[in-house]
Amino acid sequence: MEPKFWIERWEANRIGFHEDVFHPMLCKYWDTLSIDLSVPVFVPLCGKSKDLVWLRNRGHEVVGVELSELAAQAFFKENDISVERHQDGPFVCLRGAGYTFFIGNFFDLTPEFIDPIAAVYDRAALIALPSEMRRNYVRHLKTLCTAEAIGLLITISYQFDEVSPPPFVVDPEEVKSLYNPWCKLDLLGTSEAKVKGAIGCELSYRLRVR
Ligand SMILES: C[S@@+](CC[C@H](N)C(=O)[O-])C[C@H]1O[C@@H](n2cnc3c(N)ncnc32)[C@H](O)[C@@H]1O
Repeated sequence: MEPKFWIERWEANRIGFHEDVFHPMLCKYWDTLSIDLSVPVFVPLCGKSKDLVWLRNRGHEVVGVELSELAAQAFFKENDISVERHQDGPFVCLRGAGYTFFIGNFFDLTPEFIDPIAAVYDRAALIALPSEMRRNYVRHLKTLCTAEAIGLLITISYQFDEVSPPPFVVDPEEVKSLYNPWCKLDLLGTSEAKVKGAIGCELSYRLRVR
């Protein structure tokens, strides 16, 4: 999936994945992870998610990576946060009020730019990527995380061949095989979800590096 695809989607405002409310599973499960509030939370492929606000309101600093500057600028504007902008290697960095956005490609993010990640919140990153990229995504995330990292992963499983991706179909077996043996995955809960009119199942997992 080329970066251009996502940048154009944001330009065309085709962002059906975006929710204007906090994700119920984030609200329900985040505190069960017992992550110290002093630990910044990394949010890969973050869009302009409201969930970043929920995490920041809890007390965490929030670090996101997102291809679209339009998405990131919209986040700051919609949440009435003034922002500083600077260049950091291949990334434009937007900073303000405890949020840092790296604007650029997740796969270009290396330890040169970001402190080791001890906490992750991932909603809908896997389903944004085709199969080979999903494998690379998890491999790459691993290179950025500490040996004790912990996180919350929310993904959707659905069966509907006629829906043209994204979202890509990522079934629970694949999620397991992607993260094993690096992480222990515990299923925290499931709920019904609609994907472009098809009924799917949203799954929430605790991720813990073994
Ligand atoms: C399905 S959306 C999910 C957004 C967000 N996590 C949410 O819950 O609203 C995927 C997002 O990832 C971004 N994206 C896709 N590929 C990316 C990449 N390689 N690096 C950074 N961002 C990427 C897209 O621009 C899009 O905003």
